Amino acid sequence: MALYAIGDLHLSLTANKSMEVFGEGWRDYVPRIKAALSELTAADTLVLAGDTSWGIDLAEAEADFQFLEQFPCRKLLIKGNHDYWWSTISKMTEFFAEKQFTTLDFLHNNCAFYGDWALCGTRGWFEEDNQKPQNAKVLNREVMRLETSLKAAGERPILCFLHYPPLYQGYECPEILSLLNRYHVKQCFYGHLHGPTIHRAINGSRGEIEFSLISADALGFIPKKICE
Ligand SMILES: [Fe+2]
Ligand SMILES: [Fe+2]
Repeated sequence: MALYAIGDLHLSLTANKSMEVFGEGWRDYVPRIKAALSELTAADTLVLAGDTSWGIDLAEAEADFQFLEQFPCRKLLIKGNHDYWWSTISKMTEFFAEKQFTTLDFLHNNCAFYGDWALCGTRGWFEEDNQKPQNAKVLNREVMRLETSLKAAGERPILCFLHYPPLYQGYECPEILSLLNRYHVKQCFYGHLHGPTIHRAINGSRGEIEFSLISADALGFIPKKICE
């Protein structure tokens, strides 16, 4: 029994947007993900930190969910910036029930438990979002979602999962970082960074929090084992 995490699987079994066009690092990524996830058991929990499927709606993402469902571990999904299929929790839950996907669940305005740990998370915020006119609104919404999730942890120690990096070489999101500190988050995992941007990621301790990049290509498509 163990807790694992990986972000950015970018599955595209129907949407036909294979990541293999992004070079050697992504070659055969789907069989590599399949081989790695086959090692997990029904007792394991896997957090998927966003950008899970390129499908533009639930119907187009269905084959990607079916792919994930073949592995018996419990999966907790966070929204990424490319998860266009993401809908309301009630619609997504209903869709999964209808398709009999029983291993897929969400981390969204809530938290999940793993042993003594609380698993919290949300999409987060990143500087590239600053291009958008509604940026303050989007940031505030994400801060509120994160706080709702962190509050749900109660007294438990917290592991936090974000899609966007809360800090990066030359960048940080003070609103998100102050929440992580205020709720005494022990470890923070994030995805989104690919290819050449991986070397600008912050990995290691900053203050009381340990940060780790868990995007799939950064991990060689093998989920990071966080604890037993
Ligand atoms: Fe992303
Ligand atoms: Fe991504």
